[in-house]
Amino acid sequence: METLDQIVAQAVSDFEQAPDSNALEQAKARYLGKAGQLTERLKALGKLEPDARKSAGAAINLAKADIEGALEARREALKEAALAAQLAAEALDVTLPGRGMGRGGLHPVSRTIERIEGLFRSIGFEVADGPEIETDFHNFTALNTPENHPARSMHDTFYLEGSDAVLLRTHTSPVQIRTMQAHVAQFWHLSVMPEIRVVIPGRVYRVDSDATHSPMFHQVEGLWVGQNVSFADLKGVIIDFLRRFFESDDLKVRFRPSFFPFTEPSAEIDVAFMHGELEGRWLEIAGCGMVHPNVLRHGGIDPERYTGFAFGMGPDRLTMLRYGVNDLRLFFEGDVRFLAQFR
Ligand code: PHE
Repeated sequence: METLDQIVAQAVSDFEQAPDSNALEQAKARYLGKAGQLTERLKALGKLEPDARKSAGAAINLAKADIEGALEARREALKEAALAAQLAAEALDVTLPGRGMGRGGLHPVSRTIERIEGLFRSIGFEVADGPEIETDFHNFTALNTPENHPARSMHDTFYLEGSDAVLLRTHTSPVQIRTMQAHVAQFWHLSVMPEIRVVIPGRVYRVDSDATHSPMFHQVEGLWVGQNVSFADLKGVIIDFLRRFFESDDLKVRFRPSFFPFTEPSAEIDVAFMHGELEGRWLEIAGCGMVHPNVLRHGGIDPERYTGFAFGMGPDRLTMLRYGVNDLRLFFEGDVRFLAQFR
């Protein structure tokens, strides 16, 4: 028969090897359970003489305490191991990079418009806007555009259904009229009105669609009205703006005589880059001129006392030139693969 020491040693080793608490409880049963080895020994005590029973009982109790101690120690160890495993499995590495939410970004044309606004703000211009659905009066009549002008035809202008007096504005110039009227309403009582200096970005619409024309596109109008505003001011403002916009001090700017009903004299503004792919080619980017006296009058301003210049440029075109994009339609298709390049 095994000695108590052997039983204890066996129990301790069984417990040590139990891989989990289930196995441990089964091992415990082999020693301390109803039919366990130690239990059997205790039961056998009854057959011994009282003296022998006493010393054998004490020895068994010692062995039992050893086994229980080993059991408890193993239980603790398994519990700790389980906790450690759980913690390891659920570990959260807060230093890992996030799951990459697309941050998005501004549309390239919006970037250009913000850039234009910023550059003009820096020389004292304000930013204004006006409605995209306009009256024929603001879009054409007040801008000195005669009744039979080709721009008024259905081929060029989107009219609202059932009306020939309400349309989608074909340019941002009608906001010149609105700006002047609002200015006069505010300052008419002064002997000299403060100057108007605004840029007006916005969407405009024309019946037109190909690689360089979209039925919806953008313009930024500019208007400076004051007591002695001249064509020299117009040239200075425009040339300075364009060189800053393209970050190119040797950018060439050309004012080519042209015609608009609402300016006189009028010019087309061309630029030529001195380096890069487009080197030396003249590219048209804006129209401009001195505000026609009839337009000032429609705005409520006396052309004998005030003069002004206006310009209208295409930020879509400026964006194409600045980033080297060759198809205007890319800006309006909403393809993220294209747009993401400007983030
Ligand atoms: N409105 C003109 C256009 O759309 C541009 C322009 C604006 C020209 C202001 C002169 C002055 O073509």
